[in-house]
Amino acid sequence: MKELEKAIMERGTVLSDGVLKVDSFLNHQIDTQLMINVGKELANRFRDNQITKVLTIESSGIAPSFMAANELAVPLVFARKKKSLTMTNDVYTSSVYSFTKQETNEITVSKNFLSAEDRVLIIDDFLANGQAAIGLTKIVEQADATVAGIGIVIEKSFQDGSSKLKEAGYLVESLARIQSLKNGKVTFLSDPIL
Ligand code: G4P
Ligand code: NA
Ligand code: NA
Repeated sequence: MKELEKAIMERGTVLSDGVLKVDSFLNHQIDTQLMINVGKELANRFRDNQITKVLTIESSGIAPSFMAANELAVPLVFARKKKSLTMTNDVYTSSVYSFTKQETNEITVSKNFLSAEDRVLIIDDFLANGQAAIGLTKIVEQADATVAGIGIVIEKSFQDGSSKLKEAGYLVESLARIQSLKNGKVTFLSDPIL
């Protein structure tokens, strides 16, 4: 997605060979117009997949997911990283280990909001090692629902999340695919020729 690649080039900062900072439009301050367009593009990529629900993880997954769910006219559910006060024990849970933060979060979704009839589009802001996305697929599978696809805003293609998810048979669509962050420079994988 050209508009997103442009934002990454002009407003992103390469922090190291492995980490891209995009807190001016995605992870802290949110560029709402850009996120609206990102959400529409994600929805377009899965328009024909009979999605009944969008599932993401708090907090940075929520903004891009919101417009995607709105476009697809389905509810948006976000997995919680901390159990909420009002959550009963009727929950699906999965452990997500973050290599970046070296910590494990128990992510949680109420059983009220996912059921066996659902065809779920999983969305997240970043795809690195895939731990968050895999955790979300496990939640969907606990509900006996179907993972209809995985939509990612920024994929770091030099990490193994994308290939792991594709090898597991999931349909993965990433709006920006970063080939490298070496030497402070962002390079993108070009889109496959259709
Ligand atoms: P993984 O899920 O793909 O295995 O990723 P990892 O554990 O490495 O990522 C942990 C957190 O860091 C996630 O956010 C993820 O979105 C984010 N992240 C990973 N790589 C980058 C990067 O290069 N740049 C930025 N800005 N973020 C990255 P989180 O902990 O869930 O936080 P939140 O922002 O969603 O609240
Ligand atoms: Na994040
Ligand atoms: Na995230």
